[in-house]
Amino acid sequence: MGLPLKLTRQLRSGPVLTTHTKAIEANTKTFLDAVNPGDIERSHDALAKSTPHIMAVVKGDGYGHGYTWVAEAALNAGATWLGVTSFAEAQILREGGITHTPILSWLNSIEVDAKDSVELGVDIAIPGLEHLKSFLATCAPPEKNKSERRARIHLQFDMGMARDGCAEEYWQTLIQEAAKAHNDGLISVVGLMSHLRNSGEKDLEDNALAVKKMLKVRALAKAVDLHPEITHLAATGAALTDPTTHFDMVRIGAGLVGIDPSETLNLIGASTLTAPVIQHRRISRGETVGYSRTWTAPADTNLALIPVGYADAILRKIPSTAGVQIAGKRFNIVGRVSMDQVVIETGDWEVPLGEVATIWGPGTDSEPTIHDWAIWEDTIAHEVVTTIGPRIARAVTD
Ligand SMILES: Cc1ncc(COP(=O)(O)O)c(C=O)c1O
Repeated sequence: MGLPLKLTRQLRSGPVLTTHTKAIEANTKTFLDAVNPGDIERSHDALAKSTPHIMAVVKGDGYGHGYTWVAEAALNAGATWLGVTSFAEAQILREGGITHTPILSWLNSIEVDAKDSVELGVDIAIPGLEHLKSFLATCAPPEKNKSERRARIHLQFDMGMARDGCAEEYWQTLIQEAAKAHNDGLISVVGLMSHLRNSGEKDLEDNALAVKKMLKVRALAKAVDLHPEITHLAATGAALTDPTTHFDMVRIGAGLVGIDPSETLNLIGASTLTAPVIQHRRISRGETVGYSRTWTAPADTNLALIPVGYADAILRKIPSTAGVQIAGKRFNIVGRVSMDQVVIETGDWEVPLGEVATIWGPGTDSEPTIHDWAIWEDTIAHEVVTTIGPRIARAVTD
């Protein structure tokens, strides 16, 4: 449970993560351009004449940027679907006022109920026979089940991750059983989906294997008179680097908030994390800072205290090169990161109390970015933005 979304003056005066909707819109447009069939080659795809849909993947609180803020910005800019991993996340979007956009949830327990999915208007990914049977048992009988009230499913196939999705040996049976239920009027099979195992890298050779498998899945479906409207495979990386994977829809998560795992484009960072300086002091050469005295002042200097720590967004393991920006200047974090605070060295400058430190931002003013933090925290930017603690207040701006 995070802090209240309504930013009181008190909340605003502490650490705040601000989501930038214009950045999300601009990033969404970049993906619309990337999947435009005008400039791409998708010769295997009979539907190559139409532009693939963009699904805005907003799982994990919109990659830490706010479920509905990211969803609405992406939809404003031309995304037409939303993707999450659970029924609960879909419910947050519906309760947040997104009433009509199709939503797909793809990591559901076997207990997910067809009637609930119809009521909430959420499509359910079905990753195997057990899930299909259990789901069908919860469907309304066909005579009561007009097509607009049928639960909508996407068959989900594993293509080499041994993670979510149906193992290849069961593809044919899953498709046959799903086709029967579809043709009996129990459910609507609207999608065929999988995920690339080298989703983050530009790996055309490995992607080609998955594309071939996806075509096999489509052929198996066609053979039993099943014709789902949407085939979808690619996420951010392949959407930007490999048109052969685009099919009818691409599922974009990281890219919306400015993360391009394929490192082919400079997308725009969609958040700024700030916190005020709440104390300052001058120390003498030889004095130490923080727990276990891991940093000793090499000369007389000034320090400033910022109230964020490892309970918020700053990992304890960061190196001495990690820093924040105040008034256009970069200052390094010194000493151990505590649960709730870090100390920065500000040299000759006694930073006035209340001065705002930018921990990260889009990078337009040479402030640190989530990519710098990913390097400092020895991880990927996805983890930086999805592990921001609940004490950080949230704000949204354009
Ligand atoms: C099945 C699936 N599709 C799409 C995505 C979005 O990937 P990305 O954040 O690289 O766009 C994910 C993320 O993990 C995923 O699991």
